[in-house]
Amino acid sequence: MMTIRILPEILSNQIAAGEVVQRPSSVVKELVENAIDAGSTSITIEAGRGGKSFIRVSDNGIGLLRDDALLSIERYATSKIFTKNDLFSISTMGFRGEALPSIASVSKFSLVTRTKNSNIGTKIDIVGGKIQNVSDAGAPVGTMVEVKNLFFNTPARKKFLKSDNTEVSHIADVISGLALGNPHIQFRLFLNNTLQKSFSSSDDLLQRAIGVLGRDVADKLYKFEFSGDGIHIHGYCANPSVTRSTSSKIFLFVNHRLVYDRGLVSAIFQGYRGRIMKGKFPLVVIFIDIPFDQVDVNVHPSKREIKFFNGQRVYQAVSETIGTALSREQQNIMAYSKTQVEKFEYSDEAFKPDQMDKIEQSSMDWPTPFPASQKFSPKFTYNNSKPKIQNSKPRLIGQILGTYILAESQDGLMLVDQHAAHERIVYENLKRRYQSLKVQSQTLAVPETLDLNFKEADLLFKILDDLKALGMIIEPFGDTTFVVKAVPALIDEKEIKPIILEILETALIKKNTFSKEDWLENCLILMACHSAIRANLTLDRREMETLLSDLDHCENPRHCPHGRPIMISWTKHQIEKLFKRVL
Ligand SMILES: Nc1ncnc2c1ncn2[C@@H]1O[C@H](COP(=O)(O)OP(=O)(O)OP(=O)(O)O)[C@@H](O)[C@H]1O
Ligand SMILES: [Mg+2]
Repeated sequence: MMTIRILPEILSNQIAAGEVVQRPSSVVKELVENAIDAGSTSITIEAGRGGKSFIRVSDNGIGLLRDDALLSIERYATSKIFTKNDLFSISTMGFRGEALPSIASVSKFSLVTRTKNSNIGTKIDIVGGKIQNVSDAGAPVGTMVEVKNLFFNTPARKKFLKSDNTEVSHIADVISGLALGNPHIQFRLFLNNTLQKSFSSSDDLLQRAIGVLGRDVADKLYKFEFSGDGIHIHGYCANPSVTRSTSSKIFLFVNHRLVYDRGLVSAIFQGYRGRIMKGKFPLVVIFIDIPFDQVDVNVHPSKREIKFFNGQRVYQAVSETIGTALSREQQNIMAYSKTQVEKFEYSDEAFKPDQMDKIEQSSMDWPTPFPASQKFSPKFTYNNSKPKIQNSKPRLIGQILGTYILAESQDGLMLVDQHAAHERIVYENLKRRYQSLKVQSQTLAVPETLDLNFKEADLLFKILDDLKALGMIIEPFGDTTFVVKAVPALIDEKEIKPIILEILETALIKKNTFSKEDWLENCLILMACHSAIRANLTLDRREMETLLSDLDHCENPRHCPHGRPIMISWTKHQIEKLFKRVL
């Protein structure tokens, strides 16, 4: 017969440690969070060999009396919550009362602490969860926790630790996150006895964000803020030209807790949609304040996961706030490099946000198609709409490498990728037509026949109406054959077959992950891509001037619909710096 027994405390602490302490950086996280909760204004973190040999966190917080210090290393001992209701109004980083006993059960642990009203401090030494010694100790006010030989008694765990450098980079990420969430606190990180990172205390989130994200992005961070519906959102998002290949520079704070939430990350991507390339991650620091009872922080022992009671509302607000901030910065075609251009690109009649609406509404006279196979048509222009940037038109210099348009702007030089630029122009035109229900189709003189396989035919049959809304009129012609009768006015009819085949192919691959909105967007992008002029096509001056002017009217003149940059620019100052005329 089975015998049921209560687990010895040390063993249950070790089991809890399995979830709370995955690697040295988790220890750092827990100890620094405790220091923050203790009201510290200065926190020092030291680590040796990636935290494998030792981790020491010292703070100048309130400290602990001896009895409390002894209690703190007991499981479920916490000063932070007392009742069930407190669980739904947690404002501290910790609340589970298990971090210290978990860490102490898998290391050689010591804690030295003193409160400001005690003359002498307390030192507690623990090895593998067993108290070895409790003694008086001379110590400054605050707490110092030292964790040596992590996982010395759980070799299976130890085996999973990575190289010192990898563990160090995890520790640095944790410190960056906690430092960003607490700009008023001074943080210092010593690795192998050398000061690696120092964040001085500041009231300014931007200064801390620059400290964490790097000086090079200092002039590329855009502030955003939103309040409404009980949610307050604020933070900084970087210019889409600055990206990383992982999400390590996306910092999410919910009620000041550093968290990871896939929904929030997708909402941020949604805000950046069309501005960054696939596989790239933006740099974002976002704080979301939401009533405590609207979010559950007790989802996992590591306390990094959260659950919103109404996630959709939060995600929507996040993507709109970021999208709006990026569009605002982008309204000035040159603003993305944050040069002085901003100051003089606009005349007194400078672009005001409401002009954008006017442009969209008055642009009924749509440009004529610009088929890839034909020469660039000078008719390709917005007739009645006002350009966004007035009296500052770039001066065309010419075409280089058959692919890029070189122009002099008021403050320097710009190089425009002709294919990417035209792709953006066609895409925005198609999209506006679609959104304003003003899709125009051109009937094909000779209808195009499509012979599909069974799967493709089945799918096409289901989406005929959606395609019609985009201007593609296709009719079944028996079995798996279809006839294309008309195509959107901006599309080169020769391209229609590859466009439809690609639409079907992508939809079949992504059918479970695509929303209808994604799908429509993808169709517009595909149509734009297939219809845009290619690289290695010689353009004459009028064609290039028209292209630049049409680009100037675009909502997002900086990125093609895939997120690739359309233009690169150098300010006069940058050029002079390159020639060492200025320092
Ligand atoms: N640096 C510190 N300064 C002052 N008190 C501390 C410090 N670290 C821990 N404590 C005290 O010890 C208690 C236990 O800490 P522990 O980290 O184990 O649990 P917690 O922070 O309450 O919850 P969690 O397990 O979620 O972190 C805390 O509630 C706090 O009262
Ligand atoms: Mg804690």
